[in-house]
Amino acid sequence: MQSPARLWSGVAATGSTFRAHIHAILRHSDNTPGGRRWRSLHLFILGAGLLAAALSSVDGLPTLVDRLLEAVIVLVAVVFLAEYALHLWAAPESPRYGGLSDANARLRWALSAPGLIGLLAVLPAFAITTTAVKADSDLAAVFCILWILKLSVHAPAMGTLARVISNERATLASVLIVFVIVLVAAATATHFFERGGQPQEFGSLPAALWWAVVTLTTTGYGDVVPHTVGGRMVGSVVMVSGILVLALMTGILATGFAEEERRREYLRVWDQVVKVPIFTELGTVTLSEIVSKLRVRHYPPRFVVVRRDEPGDSMFFISDGEVEVRLPREPVRLGQGGFFGEMALLDRLPRSATIVTTQPTTLLVLYASDFYEIASHIPSLVAAVEKEARRRRQENEAGAATAAGGAD
Ligand code: CMP
Repeated sequence: MQSPARLWSGVAATGSTFRAHIHAILRHSDNTPGGRRWRSLHLFILGAGLLAAALSSVDGLPTLVDRLLEAVIVLVAVVFLAEYALHLWAAPESPRYGGLSDANARLRWALSAPGLIGLLAVLPAFAITTTAVKADSDLAAVFCILWILKLSVHAPAMGTLARVISNERATLASVLIVFVIVLVAAATATHFFERGGQPQEFGSLPAALWWAVVTLTTTGYGDVVPHTVGGRMVGSVVMVSGILVLALMTGILATGFAEEERRREYLRVWDQVVKVPIFTELGTVTLSEIVSKLRVRHYPPRFVVVRRDEPGDSMFFISDGEVEVRLPREPVRLGQGGFFGEMALLDRLPRSATIVTTQPTTLLVLYASDFYEIASHIPSLVAAVEKEARRRRQENEAGAATAAGGAD
């Protein structure tokens, strides 16, 4: 019989594994099938809730529809409440809060951006269930629109945007300073030229600033326009400056986004590359060169990655999962560490077989242009790929010869 202490430690271990599992699924960046299924379901519930909230604000709907919308709102609110409670319970599993007590980890999560958004999303549940707000009232709909904030957890780009703004804050601040200088100078100049003719619109600096902001941001409502030659000249300069400032801002943010995405992709690829032996045999310097050329792609089961007779523009390395190579004779299965799609690149011929995933599979894609570039830098890698392609060709020819012999 197990001692009570062992039994208890077993129960505790199972409990904490279960909590880790729940935490992994609730994390919106989790790439396991469970995580992906939860994300799709979450998005569906969110969509249904928002639609119900928006429709319930329409007056004169039939009573049955009203009741149905009310039921959807309450159901979605309860799901979000349960999700919040689960998140709070599983928060100590987050590596971010490693070393903290369970209570502290939960408090830290509750005060983080996803925690606060989660809390705002459960407010309608509280308001409706405590009947502070009736589910069918307009106020309920307004409350429920808070759910839109939950959409942000589905957009990893939100985090990226925050990081880009933080990375580029010095450059953005310089552009903002130029913006403010042009704004104040333009408002002062037009105030000087226009105050006599249009005292209402340009009589004071704050009033002139309204015109400067509208013109500099290229919004141009046209409600206030300069009439004097000097005022119009200032207006022309402000309009051109506005385009320049916005173009600069766009350029800075777009470049920052692209750089951040490149860095994240590099880390994603690096995580996968270490699972493929053909790469790990290369030195670190060579490996880092190839990592920048690979792309990570996740595929569901039964997905056709490559179709026979189609032109080939890339080859694939399997870092997780399995694929089936559909050959005229027996199909061949390739697992983690294997590769395919190399023959079309080496022979410059159409694909020799159709390849389908048999389970959720992660592939590293190497495009033809990068493959040919690598061929000159990393001959050992290409030699290994060529050797396997030769073996496959011989195997296929032998299979074809056997099949032809059998037919005779
Ligand atoms: P490609 O011709 O570009 O596309 C189909 C791929 O199937 C091919 O490259 C090879 O990577 C793979 N393939 C072809 N024959 C075999 C085989 N006998 N064993 C394993 N893989 C193969």
